[in-house]
Amino acid sequence: MNLEKFPRYPLTFGPTPIEKLDRLTAHLGGGVEIFAKRDDCNSGLAFGGNKLRKLEYIVPDAIASGADTLVTIGGVQSNHTRQVAATAAKIGMKCRLVQESWVPHQDAVYDRVGNILLSRVMGAEIELVDEGFDIGIRESWERALKDVEAKGGKPYPIPAGASVHRLGGLGYVGFAEEVRAQEKDLGFKFDYIVVCTVTGSTHAGMLVGFAADGRAKNVIGIDASATPDKTRAQVLEIARNTAELVELGKPIADDDLVLNEDYAYPLYGVPSEETNEAIRLAARLEGMMTDPVYEGKSMQGLIDLVRQGFFPAGSKVLYAHLGGVPAINGYGYVYRNG
Ligand SMILES: Cc1ncc(COP(=O)(O)O)c(C=O)c1O
Repeated sequence: MNLEKFPRYPLTFGPTPIEKLDRLTAHLGGGVEIFAKRDDCNSGLAFGGNKLRKLEYIVPDAIASGADTLVTIGGVQSNHTRQVAATAAKIGMKCRLVQESWVPHQDAVYDRVGNILLSRVMGAEIELVDEGFDIGIRESWERALKDVEAKGGKPYPIPAGASVHRLGGLGYVGFAEEVRAQEKDLGFKFDYIVVCTVTGSTHAGMLVGFAADGRAKNVIGIDASATPDKTRAQVLEIARNTAELVELGKPIADDDLVLNEDYAYPLYGVPSEETNEAIRLAARLEGMMTDPVYEGKSMQGLIDLVRQGFFPAGSKVLYAHLGGVPAINGYGYVYRNG
């Protein structure tokens, strides 16, 4: 595998810490040891998160292209668009964001707080559009790219989640390499990695990275899209493209991808009561915040899978915390009593 040949523009602090979640482990019976890799604390850029790992490999291409504006898309409370806005500020480019109506929300301040507030303060030009949730290539985004050009700018296109971008899978190949190096210091290997999956390049990168030592199937994706067929197809496509780029040297099979569909209900961006219980549990036992769109659902999955006995006794499970907490501000009513 060859990741080193790709230029990387540093946007993160470096390797993220791995933390043992002792009280959550004990609460769930102690038979499965739970750890978290804190990619939510990976950067000083506007609260960080998984997209910055991906963007580290995309920024050199954006700079080389001579672009002056990063153009991307997500929902109103997209973490991805906030991280692209921060990156644009950091590298001295403009930022154009299309924010679609991916979530049926109730809070009156939903489009004024959290991620979108941060993106506005960082100077991004934001267009709110009506279209609903879809992880694919979007017409509204293509229109924005043309509009930047028509106004004399030079856009650099970054699709939703930085996922269906030629280089979008590389960052999380790096995550796997980083975990392997940390495992050497820890003196043990993780049996499972739990990750939240939506637009796909986080899981896809991990799949390739962990395939290198035969652990592709040990990456347990928890779907939060509630459109799992699209997510599954997109993860596999990105994983195969990424495997070729890094010269993995072995094929990615359909069944290398493990995607659990059980926790995305009722909809993308809408937490179930069980998701909210998982968020409260991690918050109250560990002081570790998760959000109602992504990490709360993968936390729910982790907790439920431990309770179901999915992980054999003695397993060491690594929960990939990918960030996303700013979005909780858009759910003030849900958590008005904690
Ligand atoms: C906090 C958080 N967790 C998980 C994900 C899912 O990652 P991906 O879109 O690469 O599947 C995202 C972004 O979509 C996110 O912002």
